[in-house]
Amino acid sequence: MLRTHTCGELNGKDFDRDVVLTGWVAARRDHGNLIFIDIRDREGITQVVFNPETNKALHKQAEALRSEYVVQVDGKVHMRLEGTINKKLPTGEIEVVASKLTILNTSQTPVFEIADDADLSEDVRYVYRYLDLRRPKMQKNLLLRHRVCKIMRDHFDEKGFIEVETPILTKSTPEGARDYLVPSRVNKGKFFALPQSPQLFKQILMISGLDKYFQIAKCFRDEDLRADRQPEFTQLDIELSFVDEKDIFTLVEGVMQKIFKETLKLELKIPFDILSYDDAMSRFGCDKPDRRYGLELVDLTEELEGCGFKVFSDVIASGGIVKAILLPRPKEMPRSRIDALTEFVKSIGLKGLAYFKIGAKGPEGPVAKFFTDEEKEIITKKADGAPGDYIFFAGSDKFLCNEALSRLRTRLAREEGLIDKTEQDFLWVNDFPLFKYNQEEKRWESEHHPFTAAHDKDLQYLSKDPGRVRSRSYDLVLNGVELGSGSIRIHRKDMQEKIFNVIGMDKKEAEERFGFLTRALGFGAPPHGGFAVGLDRLVAILCGCDSIREVIAFPKTQRAISPLTQAPSIISEKQLNELGLNIKD
Ligand code: AMO
Ligand code: AMP
Repeated sequence: MLRTHTCGELNGKDFDRDVVLTGWVAARRDHGNLIFIDIRDREGITQVVFNPETNKALHKQAEALRSEYVVQVDGKVHMRLEGTINKKLPTGEIEVVASKLTILNTSQTPVFEIADDADLSEDVRYVYRYLDLRRPKMQKNLLLRHRVCKIMRDHFDEKGFIEVETPILTKSTPEGARDYLVPSRVNKGKFFALPQSPQLFKQILMISGLDKYFQIAKCFRDEDLRADRQPEFTQLDIELSFVDEKDIFTLVEGVMQKIFKETLKLELKIPFDILSYDDAMSRFGCDKPDRRYGLELVDLTEELEGCGFKVFSDVIASGGIVKAILLPRPKEMPRSRIDALTEFVKSIGLKGLAYFKIGAKGPEGPVAKFFTDEEKEIITKKADGAPGDYIFFAGSDKFLCNEALSRLRTRLAREEGLIDKTEQDFLWVNDFPLFKYNQEEKRWESEHHPFTAAHDKDLQYLSKDPGRVRSRSYDLVLNGVELGSGSIRIHRKDMQEKIFNVIGMDKKEAEERFGFLTRALGFGAPPHGGFAVGLDRLVAILCGCDSIREVIAFPKTQRAISPLTQAPSIISEKQLNELGLNIKD
């Protein structure tokens, strides 16, 4: 090694030691005739001093140092003088008095300062990602990501799982996003799809008798990007034979417990709560509720049927619902805030946002006059309102009403500062519907993916009333984020074929797309089930980051490009010809 120590490890115990450090020049301060250099590496920062009185030539050499030069410094560890000790740095009680300086490389002036608090656009950060990644926070994020993967691998190894790699050049998988496609040169006109997940392969591994599989797997999905979505992301992917839901919950709870303990020193309470999809939708309006705050939705459909407020009675008469949120004693609620909240729900599709302010004599506000005293009393009682509180109402079809109020709930909690950031709210959501109806295409489609098993007792509705069939799938939710998802699978060929039929896939299409799996199911497939955790989302939460891009070394931007490499890029005419492709203008 070119060094004896890292820049993060020397302290008072090393007094008088001869050391050699290497790293980047993080800062240079000239104090009278002394030059102080902070050298930075992955482990930290150490202060180095050049004193002209002990070595004039060396001091002269240090004058040439600039930000981000790469240096090697020989020297001796000295205690800092009283008053110059930096308690914030682990190396803050010592400094290294240099006896030799080697400039290993120079650097152009960095495009931005290598500091955690630098306010930078993502485009600039990603073009110079190597400078961005030198920032201590980014290094910490990647180290933590590594630690989480190590804990996962150790955990699953201990439990008898084996990690198996599955193909990247493969066939379309069933997660329902658009595929990234790779043209085949050898088989002109044919394409590989990059896997949206290893779903089909992990099921085939169970049929192969592997019993317990896991993989830290890359997945690819061409979908609209958001803070928690990347076109290329990583899953902790798991599949086991001869299990039911409880086994998978326990397994995932165990690894989460270990990860939170070893990274954040937090003891998670297990087992995690389980909430059915129906209860989650009814109480929170969404299938991934954040329960660190209240503001639960109150259903008033029954109470307001035929009520004096025509907007709501009409909605209910046409099959819609009316729900409300009680906001206890908001900090302030000027007209402008009401208007902003109204605009917000309108942008989601709701026609308006009726509200009550509860005064000393009961509900007040522009729509209060449309309700009878009795109705006002029933609403206030059901919402548990008291003077000073506000009640916000939404009336529309069920889907929109839940969507609007769920997002309003999150917004109100943020604005009112109701979220306890020190809490970790883990929750299983299960019993999802097996199918959802696609209005545009007028057909049923799988809510999760078509390999998910149904509850035995709901199979009677499979052909008559598919919307009533509940699945044996489950999501893991953490602080309102969908962290992972899985299910007990169909392991019988005849049942798999029935499900393809319900989602309108004829025999030919089913054979073309998934025939290789259905065929395998016919050769003694064991009962099996599994799960996939979004690794990037998990690490982002552990690091306290809002975007998963902060925990991925080389992410894509919102426009799905890499500013660092300029990918995707145009390919040459020769390559196009080899692949038999033509680009349409
Ligand atoms: P699912 O499609 O729900 O399930 O994905 C599992 C988890 O992966 C994460 N995730 C993403 N993270 C970042 N960017 C994305 N674009 C993205 N898409 C999904 C989420 C999600 O919960 N094969 C099934 C799992 C199974 O049934 O075992 C699957 O992939 O955290
Ligand atoms: P309007 O009759 O459209 O003037 O609406 C009367 C009040 O009800 C206004 O405060 C609207 O914001 C509100 N409102 C209208 N439609 C809805 C709806 N679908 N859900 C909740 N409030 C609504």
